[in-house]
Amino acid sequence: MSVVQAASSLQLCRIMRPDDANIVGNVHGGTILKMIEEAGCIVGTRHCNTQDGDRCMAALVRVEKTEFLFPVFIGEVAHVTAEITYTSTHSLEVQVQVMSENILTGVKKLANKAALWYVPCSLKNVDKIMDVPPIKYASADQEELGRKRYGAQKMERQETKARIEDVVPPPPNPEDPPKGQHTVGFSQSSLIHLVGPSDCTIHNYVHGGVTMKLMDEVAGIVAARHCRTNIVTASVEAINFHRKIIKGCVVTVTGRLTFASNKSMEIEVFVDASSLMEAGKEKYRAVSAFFTYISLDKANKALPVPPLKIDGEEEKRRFEEGNARYLQSKAKRLAEKERQE
Ligand code: COA
Repeated sequence: MSVVQAASSLQLCRIMRPDDANIVGNVHGGTILKMIEEAGCIVGTRHCNTQDGDRCMAALVRVEKTEFLFPVFIGEVAHVTAEITYTSTHSLEVQVQVMSENILTGVKKLANKAALWYVPCSLKNVDKIMDVPPIKYASADQEELGRKRYGAQKMERQETKARIEDVVPPPPNPEDPPKGQHTVGFSQSSLIHLVGPSDCTIHNYVHGGVTMKLMDEVAGIVAARHCRTNIVTASVEAINFHRKIIKGCVVTVTGRLTFASNKSMEIEVFVDASSLMEAGKEKYRAVSAFFTYISLDKANKALPVPPLKIDGEEEKRRFEEGNARYLQSKAKRLAEKERQE
């Protein structure tokens, strides 16, 4: 991987290899999320260590809603650009862009754009949050826009806090669900993973990118089980990383369908962590998020997906909430399209 560095920005590039692929052969959405997070972590950690005091590591606390605009193919080069765009007292915003480059034809495409928030944690004491050195803004307008984004995410976080505190695990997948009945239980899936050294930062806590890759993997399995066709990640709603996950923990990542439109599926993914060694320590919910998947035919055109069969009041409520998010996101995309025309 090559690295170009400036004070508060960074460029990485890497050729995409077969081990970056999903089963269809394109680059896995989780791999892209992991690259984005790595770039953000480098630029954020470097910036926060430009001051006196404890050395620190930038911990990922939030990823704003992100859309996968174009697939990246194996053999292409991914160019990842990260820049610090706002600093508050204890957190900083990094905006990241991923461009794919076909090195045979020279064609470049914007594959993904994301905004991430980091908090510097001291290496001496991970619970000590360090101050963030302020950046210089190109203009007063830029600073004001950053302040607005900071205020908006802070407000949204208060609203979603209640959801993360719900530690009740989703019910297990019912055995042998009736064939062709596309219920929530039919596609619900989980994976269990032991957090090892290669998943962790130098603090021995899991990298946010590793968690997002696992989440995308589970969401992909749920989507594929529901429609049995080629599926891709279309977008991820804002994710808040509320609790750290330490090396040696066991994480259970569970995905379940909440909503399906004609051509899209929304999957809620939970990451629950528990200590393997310390008996009696409660399982806790570290992260949860909504992933949207679509199914594509061989010409990369969106295919219809089977309707989701809803059972009971809880599933109905989640379906309606998913429908509201779907309508809101569709209206936003349409408005953006009109603005560009
Ligand atoms: N998104 C954006 N900013 C966040 C945030 C989130 N989800 N959570 C906390 N912050 C910011 C706050 O705004 C504050 O910054 P400010 O003073 O400039 O406004 C700063 O973090 C400290 O907030 P505070 O309320 O004092 O701390 P906390 O109790 O929220 O804990 C962490 C912060 C980082 C210790 C805690 O959220 C954590 O451990 N998260 C997991 C980090 C991690 O392990 N990441 C990898 C994921 S697998």
